[in-house]
Amino acid sequence: MGHYSAITGWGMNVPEKILTNADLERIVDTSDEWITSRTGIKERHVISPGESTSTLSIAAARQALERAGLEGKDLDLIIVATVSPDYRFPSTANLVQHALGAQCGAFDMQAACSGFLYAVSVAHQFIVNGTAKHALVIGVEVLSQVIDYKDRATCVLFGDGAGAVILSASDEPGGLLGFTIGSDGARPELLWIPTGGSKEPATEETIRERRNFVQMQGAEVFKFATRIMGTAMEEALANAGMTAADMDLFIPHQANLRIIEAASKRLNLPSEKVFVNIEKYGNTSAAAIPIALCEAIDQGRVYPGAHLGMVAFGGGLTWAAAVVKWTAPIRTLERLQESLPEQAVEPAQPVHVG
Ligand code: COA
Repeated sequence: MGHYSAITGWGMNVPEKILTNADLERIVDTSDEWITSRTGIKERHVISPGESTSTLSIAAARQALERAGLEGKDLDLIIVATVSPDYRFPSTANLVQHALGAQCGAFDMQAACSGFLYAVSVAHQFIVNGTAKHALVIGVEVLSQVIDYKDRATCVLFGDGAGAVILSASDEPGGLLGFTIGSDGARPELLWIPTGGSKEPATEETIRERRNFVQMQGAEVFKFATRIMGTAMEEALANAGMTAADMDLFIPHQANLRIIEAASKRLNLPSEKVFVNIEKYGNTSAAAIPIALCEAIDQGRVYPGAHLGMVAFGGGLTWAAAVVKWTAPIRTLERLQESLPEQAVEPAQPVHVG
């Protein structure tokens, strides 16, 4: 068991509260017309009191476990990709591990918006080398708490949410077939939170100057994104022995509709092969791809045998891409609940990690 790592469970959670473009018109000097035409975004979800990165993560993870027919104790590894954790430490993954009743190693990692695909590539190593049988990978962000709602250039773009997958060891050819990860740290100031770390701790002054919030040089990031989305996707496809024409569905990072369109054009993909849901969520950073994957599955656009291409870019700068051959039966939670006894799954074999 274990030459391949397949996605066997998936789940998502977004806060109930919605912030529309009309709401933002009342907060900053912007317009629905500007936001829609420049970004494709119409609304985004934001947390309310009582919600946080860990609560969204736990809800998404529970759905993923249910679809995989697993319980928390069956997990051998938990990775949470986020730049907006509950605390500096302990990690959000620690909190998720406890809430799920898991008894395994758990850690956060961050590669900004590329974090989810980075984390998938790490979990994949644990699975294929036999150290883990089931790994939970979560991409989650609560950017509403680190966004400057006085800065119209950034506050219209981002939203909160979580997406999760279970990667499981499998003998069936498929799952993660190829990936690439990349980094260029030459210009961190293109997209960052300048203060609050060891280099420039938060002070009254940094807070007054609003340097504790996300800052971005949008046009520079835009140029980088339109180039890297296509090249990173092509690299991951080549690693899988494939080309763009072999993809059945392209699930790109949801940062800006114009960036997605430019990447799709470069890859020569017709629009029916491209998944877009940015209008509802904005850019949820590390959560964007797993949320998009869940919605693509719900819409019947993912099926056993389908080849999915996923690519992300973000602060760092970072980028990552992955090619997945889908192998799992498509299970809706409703169907699962109706046929619970039949879905009972053999207890997982104990796996010794380390
Ligand atoms: N509402 C109205 N006007 C706005 C605005 C807003 N929310 N935000 C910026 N503007 C203004 C700017 O001030 C500028 O005005 P000026 O010409 O008078 O100076 C004008 O709109 C054009 O700004 P510009 O930056 O050239 O717009 P753009 O077409 O590049 O779009 C972004 C801006 C941010 C949407 C775009 O650059 C982008 O998406 N960049 C990538 C960001 C990204 O993906 N980040 C996340 C990475 S994971």
